[in-house]
Amino acid sequence: MELAGKRILLGITGGIAAYKGAELLRLLTREGASVQVVMSAAATRFVTPVTFQALSGQPVFSDQWDPRVANNMAHIDLSRAADVVLVAPASADFIAKVANGLADDLLTTLVLARDCPLLLAPAMNRQMWENPATMRNVATLRADGVAILGPGCGDQACGESGLGRMLEAEEILDELVAHFQPRLLPDVGVLLTAGPTFEAIDPVRGITNLSSGRMGYALARAAREAGARVTLVSGPVSLPCPTGVSRIDVTSARDMHAEVMARVAAHAVFIAVAAVADYRPARTIAQKIKKGAQAAPPAIELVLNPDILAEVAALPKPPLCVGFAAESENLAAYAEHKRRSKGIPLIVGNLIQDGFGGDDNRLILFDDTGEHPLAPAAKIVLARQLVAHIAGLLEKRR
Ligand code: C5P
Repeated sequence: MELAGKRILLGITGGIAAYKGAELLRLLTREGASVQVVMSAAATRFVTPVTFQALSGQPVFSDQWDPRVANNMAHIDLSRAADVVLVAPASADFIAKVANGLADDLLTTLVLARDCPLLLAPAMNRQMWENPATMRNVATLRADGVAILGPGCGDQACGESGLGRMLEAEEILDELVAHFQPRLLPDVGVLLTAGPTFEAIDPVRGITNLSSGRMGYALARAAREAGARVTLVSGPVSLPCPTGVSRIDVTSARDMHAEVMARVAAHAVFIAVAAVADYRPARTIAQKIKKGAQAAPPAIELVLNPDILAEVAALPKPPLCVGFAAESENLAAYAEHKRRSKGIPLIVGNLIQDGFGGDDNRLILFDDTGEHPLAPAAKIVLARQLVAHIAGLLEKRR
C-alpha cells in the first residue's frame, strides 16, 4: 500500500475525463489513501457525486454554501484536513482561475486557502491546451510551485488528436506516489540497463538469460521518484515502462552496448542491472536451421560479448557505476571480486534463490565501506533504499 495514511483531497472539474476520476479514486483508496472528493458544478454534469461518494465512502462536497457545514468554512476545513490537493481532471477554466487567484466556488476557494501542495492533471482539447492564455496560466502555476501532471498525447473525446488528454489513472497514481518520496536525485541523469539480452542463432532461435527485468524497472521507477532524469535501456521483457522514464528497447548485448555508450556522457549515474549474455554465436544463420539436415547436430561457435559495465567504468570520466551480482553461492566473495575487477564503487549482490522473477528480493550492498545487507522486501522498497545509498555515494563524490 503506497499511500497508507495519506489524506488526499481529490478535486474533479468539468470535462469528459471526469469519468477517469472515478478510476483514479478507486486506485487511491486501493493504495490505502483516505480521499475526500470535491467537485465543481460542471463536474457534476458529467458524473454524479453518488459515484464518488460510493467509491470514497465519504460524502462529496460541491457547494460553497453546503448546509452540512455548521461553520460555513468548508473551504478551510477541507483543505486543512489534506496532505495534498490533487485536481484531476483540471479544466482550462479551472487552471485559469487558480493561476489568477480567483475563488468563486468551493474548489477554487479551498485551493486558494490551502497550506499543502497542489497537483493538477490538465484535460482539455488540444487547441485549448496550446492556446497562449492556457500556456501562460500553466507557466504561472509552475512558477508558483504547482505540479502539472501531463497532459498526455493521443485521441481526444472531441475526435481530434494531440496534446491535452488527461494522463491515465495509473500514471497519476504513480506521480502522486512519487510526490511523497524524498527528492534525493534532483535532476540527476541516471542511465540503467535491465532485462535479458537475446543473441540470435538463426531467425527463430537464440541464447538468452533468465531475467524478468523487475529489479531494473523498479530501480528506474525509484530513481525517477527521487527526481532523476531516467533513461532505461531494456532487453526484451513484458513490463510496462515506468511513468516518466524514457525507455530504449534493444535485443542483443551489442545493441545494448551501443545505446549505452551513445548516452552515457549525459548521465551522472550508471546502473547495470541487465543480465547480459556473456557470449553470442559467432555467426547468425540467415535461414532457420533444419533438424536432421546435417549428419551431426550443428555446433555453435561462441564469441565474447562486450562487458558494458566494465567499459563504462573504464571511461576517462566515468559516471558513478553500480553493478549487480546474481549468484547461486559464495555471494560476498564473488560480488567483492566483481566490484574490484570491474573497478566500480558499488555492487549489489543477491542470491538467485532469493528473488529471481518474483516481486520480493534480498539484497546486500558492497562498497568501499564494507557490506550493507538490506532486509528482505518488495523490489520497489529495496530499489528506494538503493537509490538512497547511491545518492549518499554521489554526495561524497562531490
Ligand atoms: O561479469 P558479470 O556478468 O558477472 O557482472 C554482472 C554485472 O555486470 C551486472 O551489473 C551486469 O549488468 C554487468 N554486465 C554488463 N555487460 C556484460 C556482462 C555483465 O554490463 N557483458
